[in-house]
Amino acid sequence: MVDALGVAVVGFGWMGRVHTQAYARVRHHYPQLALRPELVTVAEEVPGRAEEAAARFGFASAARDWREVAADPRVRAVSITAPNFLHREIGVAMAEAGKHIWIEKPVGLGPGDARAVADAVAGAGVQGAVGFNYRNAPAVEAARELIASGGIGTVTHVRIRLFSDYAAHPEGALTWRYERERGGSGVLGDLASHGADLARFLLGDIASLTADTAVFLPERARPAGATAGHSRATGGELGPVENEDYVSCLLRFASGARGVLEACRVSVGEQNNYGFEVHGTEGAVFWDFRRMNELGVGRGTSYQDQPVSTVYVGPGDGEFGAFQPGAANAMGYDDLKVIEAYRFLRSVAEGVPYGATLEDAVHSAVVLDAMARSAESGAWVTVGGPAAL
Ligand SMILES: NC(=O)c1ccc[n+]([C@@H]2O[C@H](COP(=O)([O-])OP(=O)(O)OC[C@H]3O[C@@H](n4cnc5c(N)ncnc54)[C@H](O)[C@@H]3O)[C@@H](O)[C@H]2O)c1
Repeated sequence: MVDALGVAVVGFGWMGRVHTQAYARVRHHYPQLALRPELVTVAEEVPGRAEEAAARFGFASAARDWREVAADPRVRAVSITAPNFLHREIGVAMAEAGKHIWIEKPVGLGPGDARAVADAVAGAGVQGAVGFNYRNAPAVEAARELIASGGIGTVTHVRIRLFSDYAAHPEGALTWRYERERGGSGVLGDLASHGADLARFLLGDIASLTADTAVFLPERARPAGATAGHSRATGGELGPVENEDYVSCLLRFASGARGVLEACRVSVGEQNNYGFEVHGTEGAVFWDFRRMNELGVGRGTSYQDQPVSTVYVGPGDGEFGAFQPGAANAMGYDDLKVIEAYRFLRSVAEGVPYGATLEDAVHSAVVLDAMARSAESGAWVTVGGPAAL
């Protein structure tokens, strides 16, 4: 017996669309799911955008104010895909209204916001999933298992990189992303949040770090109207970029391993160059998002001149089998969101969390906060656990 679950989406930009498409596809890939999501309503503040989304994707209704969603008894689960400054208010209100939430990273403007949403979810006894989609890649799950099983020996060091050019164009509009009040941090929350989550997912807690940040494009043009994603604003009045374009960070893990995390949103020539290289005493494992279904694996007893092979993940790795029948049939970015939707809905159906939770968001936010404090002081900073909040 499959029950219907009324779902809503708040904020219909890029992520709003991707969450909606994931709800539409999830049962195609996971027919065993005990719930069938039904698109009940979509809320958007830009006039006409919710109505357009409803007409195109099949929501039963459209709203201008997300509070209507919180009060709607048809809605039992909500995707929160609005800008960062709204995550706390909407996340807490939805949880308190008894809705399960699937919220985008970084969950608010800082660790206090992530903690508040995590507490509201725990207090209401609802499920809370977070959009750390890169950990859903089957190759990343395979790398984690390889590392955990001792397959590359004792981990010595890791490099995690997140380079993109989405903000590199000088005419890129001064959207909410570049404002402290509405975006919070810059590339820290936008990309390094994924890096901090991947670091912990693969290698465990970060004990301390030191970081450096920079703004390379200090002014951008104000947009004339509504924006979505990374819009352009040619000829608009210039305003200040208030948060960092770049971060580099040295990491010390609780295990004793060392790491480097580097992220930039204005890297000309780099498109979604996200990945990691993890090195151990007996091997190494490499992953690049642009070749998402491959791992570079070097293992053996040569130590020096040890070859590295390309391994295509297959149906035995992570959730690959829900998408493709055999290795080297490619999965893509949106599939990672279908996996996230599945884990979220399975959590709701079974009452236990699967996949990244609000506690993972708190962990990531605490690491980002430590990076920001270190960049300001120039010192090494001890990363307090979420309990330190
Ligand atoms: N997991 C990922 O890989 C990933 C990728 C991109 C963005 N994100 C996250 O998703 C969130 C949204 O990012 P995006 O790229 O979709 O941004 P976007 O600007 O494309 O979309 C945000 C949407 O929210 C709407 N909005 C603003 N205020 C609103 C309100 N009060 N009520 C309802 N809607 C409102 C905007 O009009 C816009 O349509 C951010 O938190 C971002 O960090 C995650």
